[in-house]
Amino acid sequence: MVKIGGLILGENPLLLAPMEDVSDPPFRTLCKEQGCDMMFTEFVSVEGLIRNAEKSLKKLEISEEERPIGIQIFGSELNSMTEAVKIIEKYKPDVIDINYGCPVKKVVCKGSGAAILKEVDKMVSLTKAIVESTSIPVTVKTRLGWDENSIRIEEITEMLQEVGIKAITIHARTRSQMYKGESDWSYLGRIKENKKITIPVFGNGDINSPEKAMEHKKKFKVDGLMIGRAAIGYPWIFREISHYFKTGELLPPPSIEERVEAVKRHLKYSIEWKGEKNGINEMRQHYTNYFKGLRDIKEYRTALITNNNEYDLLASLDRIVKKYNIESQV
Ligand SMILES: Cc1cc2nc3c(=O)[nH]c(=O)nc-3n(C[C@H](O)[C@H](O)[C@H](O)COP(=O)(O)O)c2cc1C
Repeated sequence: MVKIGGLILGENPLLLAPMEDVSDPPFRTLCKEQGCDMMFTEFVSVEGLIRNAEKSLKKLEISEEERPIGIQIFGSELNSMTEAVKIIEKYKPDVIDINYGCPVKKVVCKGSGAAILKEVDKMVSLTKAIVESTSIPVTVKTRLGWDENSIRIEEITEMLQEVGIKAITIHARTRSQMYKGESDWSYLGRIKENKKITIPVFGNGDINSPEKAMEHKKKFKVDGLMIGRAAIGYPWIFREISHYFKTGELLPPPSIEERVEAVKRHLKYSIEWKGEKNGINEMRQHYTNYFKGLRDIKEYRTALITNNNEYDLLASLDRIVKKYNIESQV
């Protein structure tokens, strides 16, 4: 039984990764429906929070149906971090997750995200102060190290556990790899063999099928898997993996009706959450994946990413069902 502090996640939990501009409430609703066991918000800037930035505050809004859910923060200044934690507490997340893994320049150049991997002492003292400032369980998401010459993840996991974090998620790449190359889960395997580590260790990086999920779970013995990109436009990855874990059987992929029904609802929630203009714009990044693998989808996808009107978009989606249902009958 996997537990984050007092929070029970069950066996083989599947976690939705925090993803900026993706893991928002509309997308999270679809992943939750498909059996995701725990979710995280997009990362939230602590500097934005303490300055009352509307965009940052909006990211704290979570609902009861989403539980268990973690709010993820990034920052580098101790006072800002603990001040932000006080703001977050009012939203009552199940955990507060600290981002020590974001590789993008605008974050690392301010000393946040993966930049902290270059200052392990600071990482530990910052984490200790955050843990001590709140009664909400604190977790960490990080990478293997800054680059291949400075991988200290095993030692870091021990130190962070020592100062009181309740779980760690490790994206098995270094910062300098960004998203390139293969993730290297062997470090996760070694951390799981380390008897001193008692907190749950979640593995992250490149899980994109039930078979790969099973293979990685068995080989590296992680407590759960966090899934990011494979869920974008394909929330069914959660039900497929959990069904495979339970039965050893592969589920058939979603039908075209199911895909279109999911897209319609995603669009609707997106518009409700962000307003018509932004809701429609931000949905555009999802269409490619929702309809991946369908022959001759390009013309239909173009209609979806160029149209600004909800009714026209719904009509385009209906045309997709019609086309592919007819094709499957001939
Ligand atoms: C579009 C996008 C946005 C992301 N934003 C965040 C973020 O806000 N916080 C975070 O910890 N990681 C973020 N990540 C990294 C993912 O959480 C995850 O670690 C990474 O994608 C590797 O997992 P995957 O191979 O399953 O996608 C982001 C990744 C993507 C693709």
